[in-house]
Amino acid sequence: MTYTVYLDGRFIPEEKARVSAMDRGFLLGDGIYEVMPMYHGVPFHLDYHFDRLSRSLAAVSIENPLTRDDYRHICESLYHHHDSTHQSIYFQITRGAYETRTHYFPDEKADPTLFAFAKPLELHGLSTLSKGLAAVTHADLRWQRCDIKVISLLANVMAREYSKQQHVDEAILLRDGIVTEGSHTNVFVVKNDEVFTHPSNEHILGGITRQVTIQMLKDLNIPCHETLVPEADLLSADEIWLTSTTKMVAPVLQLNQHAVGDGKPGEIWQQTASAFIRYIEGYATHDK
Ligand code: PDD
Repeated sequence: MTYTVYLDGRFIPEEKARVSAMDRGFLLGDGIYEVMPMYHGVPFHLDYHFDRLSRSLAAVSIENPLTRDDYRHICESLYHHHDSTHQSIYFQITRGAYETRTHYFPDEKADPTLFAFAKPLELHGLSTLSKGLAAVTHADLRWQRCDIKVISLLANVMAREYSKQQHVDEAILLRDGIVTEGSHTNVFVVKNDEVFTHPSNEHILGGITRQVTIQMLKDLNIPCHETLVPEADLLSADEIWLTSTTKMVAPVLQLNQHAVGDGKPGEIWQQTASAFIRYIEGYATHDK
């Protein structure tokens, strides 16, 4: 089957998509990305995703080549080229291709390169999510601007690979003894019926799923604190959750080969994940 992608203004077969080897994304990791979920064909919180994409671009001084409606149009067109009910749309924008490689931004101005493709996405139900995940802790070796969704992900890739070698689903990162986030997820910790997660600052990527999860907790009147969580609190947590576009709100049942809490999905997770699933379903039907 021919797989359609979007590259610099055109929808083309994936095998025809070609980017210059002088592209600064390829040479220097000089670019940003965004992953937008679509449930039942409706972009989920396009507003939040567009805002985050705009913030990432502004932070690295790349002009946004498109408007919010353009992104919606690309999402919808790619969605219709594929037959999965739910999909995630990956957008990557780099500073573009130049004649020579320099560390500084080149003086002449090339157009940014904009590449996008769709991937099938699962809208997990509670029973699938409750199978749970396993994780290990790992040093957070990243830079000081983890809030920018940059394509240079080598430290994340190495942490995730480490966790894969341990036969688990995620690496939970520790910076100076504080739980920041996962290699590609945000982390929530539950202790004595209260929920804790790292503040949205330059040490984490402010996940959209994290943002919606915090809103769900507010609606459920469950106390949620955006505060620094020491490693000891992670290791003695009653519940640990990972959140992301692909994992939704997933309970971690095993950490560093030890059971988390009683080793079963917790009560607070169940309430929150149920609310989250209902919210997604409602969002898709409402927005149609
Ligand atoms: N990853 N933290 C990091 C470091 C991430 O890479 C991601 C997402 C998240 C969760 O963000 P969101 O809830 O908006 O998906 C947190 C994406 C999915 C990826 O790299 O493919």
